[in-house]
Amino acid sequence: MLKSIAVLTSGGDSPGMNAATRAVVRTAIYEGVRVFGINNGYQGMIQDDIHELNSRSVSDIIQRGGTFLGTARSEEFKTEAGRQKALENLRKHGIEGLVIIGGDGSLTGGALLSKMGNIPIVGLPGTIDNDVWGTDYTIGADTAVNTILDAINKLRDTASSHRRIIVIEVMGRTSGWLAMMAGIAGGAEYVLVPEAKFNLDEICKDLKSSYKDGRRYSIVVVAEGAGSGIEIGKIIGEKTGIDTRVSVLGHIQRGGSPSVEDRLKASILGERAALAVISGISNVVFGFNAGKVVSIDLFDSVNNTKTLDPELVRLARVLA
Ligand code: F6P
Repeated sequence: MLKSIAVLTSGGDSPGMNAATRAVVRTAIYEGVRVFGINNGYQGMIQDDIHELNSRSVSDIIQRGGTFLGTARSEEFKTEAGRQKALENLRKHGIEGLVIIGGDGSLTGGALLSKMGNIPIVGLPGTIDNDVWGTDYTIGADTAVNTILDAINKLRDTASSHRRIIVIEVMGRTSGWLAMMAGIAGGAEYVLVPEAKFNLDEICKDLKSSYKDGRRYSIVVVAEGAGSGIEIGKIIGEKTGIDTRVSVLGHIQRGGSPSVEDRLKASILGERAALAVISGISNVVFGFNAGKVVSIDLFDSVNNTKTLDPELVRLARVLA
């Protein structure tokens, strides 16, 4: 059993990271294990921004979006010298195991660190994109999709008043998960995702004829990985001749108080990660599949690409 562990959050922040960190910290303390927080992700590890935490350090954070530890995308950590420095700092503090909360890139960083240092590493999937292989849940995705849904509902009001087409660009990097889930739940006419081909000419023809038949408005959700919402909106407006507006939701999708699902699942995963790393288990990522906690091999997770369920693509088309 380890005597001292650390936790960090890395990459894009996501609602629920605080709940996960809190669970890691409180579980470690419950087990009589010292726990350190590393500020600003891997960059803080390199810069020795590492501080011991106690139970009170994580009070009053479960309801907050963002991550109280801070996060970063560290270029230096991508170098061997950077990772070496980071490992030396862990050793200096007597840290024997590490919990990493972050997305695909952050978990890849963990895999690289694991290959270099003899230190147990456990990952938790923390990203709004829900693009981590091996788990159908990532911390923050539920809150983000609800934020998008709220935006769609509001945009629908104004679209309908003005008989406009509204194009909404949402985040997700190379994944269409956020767009697809929010698009189906928000009753969008079109959901454009990088995982499925679409024909903009056909879409414009359909939009034109449905407006002729009396349609009052249309909602088109575009995943950022499928193209620029601004460009797509411009083409739609020009080709259909229908008044079109574009809304790029941006970083508003990353903030906000986490949903019940994100708080609960992050807490469950945080406890599992802490218990695993304390007992010396390494190179695993904990996630959820079909409602149950699963443990995924870290290297499998970072070396595989999660795909979007084609059934969802089909459903979005049927219901449009
Ligand atoms: O990975 C999370 C994410 O929000 C992506 O959806 C988006 O493409 C990216 O991060 C934005 O990154 P940044 O906050 O660095 O601009």
